[in-house]
Amino acid sequence: MIVLTSKTRHSSRVLPTCLTRRTALSSESPTTSLFGKKVFGRRRNSDKAPPSTVSSRHFYQNEALMGYANRPIRPVSLQQFAFYGRKLTDEKIIHSANFVRQELPTRMAHRIHDMQRLPYSIIRNPHMSHVYELYYHSFNSLRKFPKIRSLDDNDKLCNLVKDLLLRHTEVVPRVVMGVIESAELMDSNRLDRFIYSLLSSRISRRVLTEQHLTMTNSLKEGNVTNTGENVGQVFLQLHAADVVRQCADLAGRLVSDVHRGCATPEIIFEGDSDTKFAFIESHFKYMLGEILRNAFEAAASKTERTGEPLKPLLVTVCNTPHQLIFRFSDRAGGIPSDVVQDLWSFAKGPRSLLRHEKLEQLPFFDAVAGERESINKRMSSLSSLTSRPSDLFLGMGLPMSKVYAEFWGGKIVVKSMEGFGCDVFLHISKLGIESAFVENTSI
Ligand SMILES: Nc1ncnc2c1ncn2[C@@H]1O[C@H](COP(=O)(O)OP(=O)(O)O)[C@@H](O)[C@H]1O
Ligand SMILES: [Mg+2]
Repeated sequence: MIVLTSKTRHSSRVLPTCLTRRTALSSESPTTSLFGKKVFGRRRNSDKAPPSTVSSRHFYQNEALMGYANRPIRPVSLQQFAFYGRKLTDEKIIHSANFVRQELPTRMAHRIHDMQRLPYSIIRNPHMSHVYELYYHSFNSLRKFPKIRSLDDNDKLCNLVKDLLLRHTEVVPRVVMGVIESAELMDSNRLDRFIYSLLSSRISRRVLTEQHLTMTNSLKEGNVTNTGENVGQVFLQLHAADVVRQCADLAGRLVSDVHRGCATPEIIFEGDSDTKFAFIESHFKYMLGEILRNAFEAAASKTERTGEPLKPLLVTVCNTPHQLIFRFSDRAGGIPSDVVQDLWSFAKGPRSLLRHEKLEQLPFFDAVAGERESINKRMSSLSSLTSRPSDLFLGMGLPMSKVYAEFWGGKIVVKSMEGFGCDVFLHISKLGIESAFVENTSI
């Protein structure tokens, strides 16, 4: 359990005068925690985080930032990605590099501006100020990067963005811990909206960057005409049932590790399960992996508890003109009502404290499985999925999957019948346009 100590009171440290001035205006009075003790917006464990060094520069020299934050984001669709990468030339790579060079700092500036609009007491949280500085630093390095005129310039940009991708793998645990620690300082729905748009934007930047890195690599290797099954990260012909089977194998192994060799439910397909569609494979596998793992985990627990045999998992695929709908129907007992109410939240609920404790032991969090490995070694997302700790339950599988689904214009709906089972609907939009949510966030 997280214990609060008086140390928390001294963690504000010596701040620049401009910030202490601002503090006086903000609501920095202690609030009562769940444990009835006084908190100043952070808990003892946060003291492990690096000291806050947010400086006046961030608040008073914002002109450059606002110049970018006022620019609209230019959303990209899966089709555009696929089309652009079909035939590569030096000019196309240079053009793409300049798009990345402009778009990344713009997208970062939007999120930095969001952070600046949070109550100051929240941004002073050590995790949040760490993330803030990381963003600000990345924003500055990108905005100062000169125009790309040659492939050599592009190589330099690729090195920078790879480095930034790696540094940002610590953003998710930090920001989730930061909002949990700030739960008493701001409405938790607002905090959830903040984290949601931060994650959504993070996906968007990562997709742009990865696509550019992959195209650069292809050109270097002489693969200029792409007629294969994927263009960069976009798989053009994902076979619905095949991907479900692959993810089920892996989810089954993870659950079997936790439940000492317990078998996993048989999968029965119905509907348009032979449908092929275009999507970013790692994103689709992430969502499927989480949904299947939940269903298998619930089934194994139920069997252990009751001794009843496993019931099959029914996977229905429905191919409509504008979307592909997957329904996963299990009979593993459904979701307990106390869990259902905060199922989609990062910030609230009794389970958030447990999440905080676990995240503290997790310096990095791969938003897509194997994120760090894939940046370094460009491994396939599936092989690196196996590196996930099998007993790690953060209560973030569904909220993260929702971010991915909605990012590409789809959605996830969970219908739980307590005591009986769950129906999870995953809607995939065939348009695959980056969600406008990234831009139109109202925190
Ligand atoms: N199909 C399901 N059957 C029963 N419970 C489920 C199912 N899917 C999700 N849950 C419940 O919802 C919780 C949250 O799921 P998730 O967001 O994936 O986080 P985690 O699995 O890490 O706890 C699970 O811990 C479990 O209690
Ligand atoms: Mg889960």
